[in-house]
Amino acid sequence: MPATSVCPNCAGTGFKIVEREELSGAVRCECVAAERAARLDSEAALPPLYSNASFENFLLPRDNPIAYRELTEVFLAVRGYAREFPNTKQPGLLLMGSPGTGKTHLAVAALRAIMAKGFAGLFYDYQNLLDKIRSGYDAASGASDREAYRVAMEAEILLLDDLGAHRVTEWVEDTVTSIITTRCNQRKPLIATTNLIDPDAGYSTSQRRPDGIVDYKTTLTERIGSRARSRLFEMCRVIKMPLVEDFRVRRQSLQ
Ligand SMILES: Nc1ncnc2c1ncn2[C@@H]1O[C@H](COP(=O)(O)OP(=O)(O)OP(=O)(O)O)[C@@H](O)[C@H]1O
Ligand SMILES: [Mg+2]
Ligand SMILES: [Zn+2]
Repeated sequence: MPATSVCPNCAGTGFKIVEREELSGAVRCECVAAERAARLDSEAALPPLYSNASFENFLLPRDNPIAYRELTEVFLAVRGYAREFPNTKQPGLLLMGSPGTGKTHLAVAALRAIMAKGFAGLFYDYQNLLDKIRSGYDAASGASDREAYRVAMEAEILLLDDLGAHRVTEWVEDTVTSIITTRCNQRKPLIATTNLIDPDAGYSTSQRRPDGIVDYKTTLTERIGSRARSRLFEMCRVIKMPLVEDFRVRRQSLQ
């Protein structure tokens, strides 16, 4: 409901009178929940590309039975997490897998489903968050940047997208560790996505190609440090994306 129009059912009071047999009483007007939902949505800072991502528009590859089965399993696990929230076994969710497999889409779908229950969510791209926190130490930067660190700690549910992307410095490791540790200690939910691998999630760190060359993959520990990684595994349900075709490529070929 836009701020300029007054709700006709409650005249903007948030309460409406209902008559039940001989009794009449005040109850919360529906506009209160609708307004809260709209506010939560705008405060979540979802990137426009994903603002409509939902479970309803997540497609399963019917032309590939193995990918279909595996992706369905992942889909049901993520949807189950969102449905059970806040009574989930682990407070958080970690989606691991290759680019274009739908991690961010599913993470946003989960966050939106949770927000529909009235919880406040916040989306942050990992690199962007670190840049903001770093510039917050700069005296010249605005107060909003100085807040990024606090906001990431305090947000009711934080979606940290593309965790561990790009450079590693001691500063990054300390910052990420303190955000994850603080959230973990307070059992504050964190939903994260990452391209990095982890041996405990069933990934092998090296792979011998047909030409004999061994490829080494970067692990989550190498990028965010062992303390943050250990806390993350402790607080999150870890979900490994199946090896499905990059949806970005697939979509191109369908157009
Ligand atoms: N199964 C799917 N059904 C519908 N849309 C999908 C599906 N998988 C991915 N997409 C869409 O394809 C694009 C890429 O997916 P997404 O960004 O979720 O991948 P990702 O795993 O997060 O990749 P990256 O590791 O590069 O961040 C998005 O626009 C997303 O909405
Ligand atoms: Mg992504
Ligand atoms: Zn009303």
